[in-house]
Amino acid sequence: MAERRFRSRAWFEKRDKDGFIHRSWMGRGLPRDVFDGRPVIGICNTWSELTPCNAHFREIAEHVKRGVWEAGGLPFEFPVTSTGETSVRPTAMLFRNLVSMDVEEMVRANPIDGVVLLCGCDKTTPSLVMGAASCDLPAIVVSGGAMLNGKYRGETIGVSHVWKFSEDVKAGVMTAQEFMDAEPCMSRSSGVCAAMGTASTMAVIVEALGLSLPQNAAIPAVDSRRYTLAHESGRRIVEMAREDLPLSRILTRQAFENAIRANGAVGGSTNAVIHLLAIAGRAGVPLTLGDWDTLGRDVPTIADVMPSGRFMMEDFFYAGGLPAVLRALGEADLLHRDALTVNGRTIWDNVKDAPTHNHEVIRRFDEPIVAHGGIAVLCGNLAPSGAVLKPSAASPHLLRHRGRAVVFENIEHYKTRINDPDLDVDADSVLVLKGCGPKGYPGMAEVGNMGLPAKLLQQGITDMVRISDARMSGTAYGTVVLHVAPEAAVGGPLALVEDGDLVALDVDARSLHLEVSDEELARRRQAWRAPALPDGGYLQLFVEHVGQADTGADFDFLVGCRGHAIARESH
Ligand code: FES
Repeated sequence: MAERRFRSRAWFEKRDKDGFIHRSWMGRGLPRDVFDGRPVIGICNTWSELTPCNAHFREIAEHVKRGVWEAGGLPFEFPVTSTGETSVRPTAMLFRNLVSMDVEEMVRANPIDGVVLLCGCDKTTPSLVMGAASCDLPAIVVSGGAMLNGKYRGETIGVSHVWKFSEDVKAGVMTAQEFMDAEPCMSRSSGVCAAMGTASTMAVIVEALGLSLPQNAAIPAVDSRRYTLAHESGRRIVEMAREDLPLSRILTRQAFENAIRANGAVGGSTNAVIHLLAIAGRAGVPLTLGDWDTLGRDVPTIADVMPSGRFMMEDFFYAGGLPAVLRALGEADLLHRDALTVNGRTIWDNVKDAPTHNHEVIRRFDEPIVAHGGIAVLCGNLAPSGAVLKPSAASPHLLRHRGRAVVFENIEHYKTRINDPDLDVDADSVLVLKGCGPKGYPGMAEVGNMGLPAKLLQQGITDMVRISDARMSGTAYGTVVLHVAPEAAVGGPLALVEDGDLVALDVDARSLHLEVSDEELARRRQAWRAPALPDGGYLQLFVEHVGQADTGADFDFLVGCRGHAIARESH
């Protein structure tokens, strides 16, 4: 069968000067017949030693290439900016949109007919999918997989323990030496965080969207089946290019609804809210913050995985992985069965026979760890455009709570004040942090799960209501209200909260209310002053163009799909 005419032919088929240049430079070390019109596959790699969770991606890329060659494609691996969650300052989220721009422009600018996205550490998934969605070529995701379970003194540990151990040291129940001893026991292998943090949540999201082959979300990073999946994905992207199966046929409204429900069923990260809204914005699929509540509210969390549950991603894979969860959703009529996936089959065809091997880790639907999982979207005069809370990671006794605000104007103010023995705070107080939203930080840092005052930890208090315009790590937990919009830096009501104000949270009623009169709030607004804008550089571009959390915090000029046509040839 004759090959369809791929876009790469515009580079490689000409017999003139331009064709000479394109083939001669790109063809070094390759037989000349590779430019016979076969599909060219880009392998978009976020490998970097500065992104340790993606440090095994060169090996994964080699397995993808095997599959591409075997299926008759021509693979070219290319790097894009890589953001390591643990090291990049002030926060990796500051660069998500920048990376998406890198991906979009490099995919469009090069002779690529289909692209394999190698995604791992938190932001490397949404940024690559956002960029690819704005180009709309055939694309498939290969995730890096989670690291092996941590082991410390015979106990299984994962990244959520970092928060716990840190509080234990402050509370005096763990020594500083024990804390240091646990450090190498946490990260024992390649891969992303071992809990259902943001990285694994986003791997779940892409599999539920239909953007990866089945089991992509949970095969451990060092399991040979991860490399088999990479090989098979390499084969499949060649077929997708031949079938002309672009991302827009996968990224439908149904696919997004499936992803939201899958997130609820696995107890996924609150960060998925922002990233999925941004991906939908690129794909041109209408999706709102309210959809997260409506669609996820009645989804029970059945994956007993940290931080919502007890087990780790490694256990989750052995128990059946995401296909087992999607099957349970389908059987409960909570899955759009007809949604198309990258392997050309419907999601239901992929999962309808998926076994569950361990019902302790992947619970039965009528024995969930939380009956109403998902993400609660709160509204009220403190968050007119919404805020989010993850009920499965919160303390049930705090889901309805009223308390006096203890206010921190920014993260530095919090750090200088939180352990002050004279701080007027008790277990019923509500910690309120401002200035950590998309524009305020800038970049919307993961500081919303602010640590509790040491003096309360020493009294045995382990959770308090915390409210901010920040995000929190997907591995964190607590009764934490996040993503308050509009944020304080643009004059949202959060900016007006003062010490001692009464704040009322009612998760069942989905309300977040500041009990201060409208007149008093108007008086405070008169006195409020907007923070100064950054002067120049990327920070200025970021602050001028980033949107609010409730719409995905994308740049206004990047929303939408611009396709893969090129205005002009280069030579
Ligand atoms: Fe990279 Fe958690 S820090 S996945």
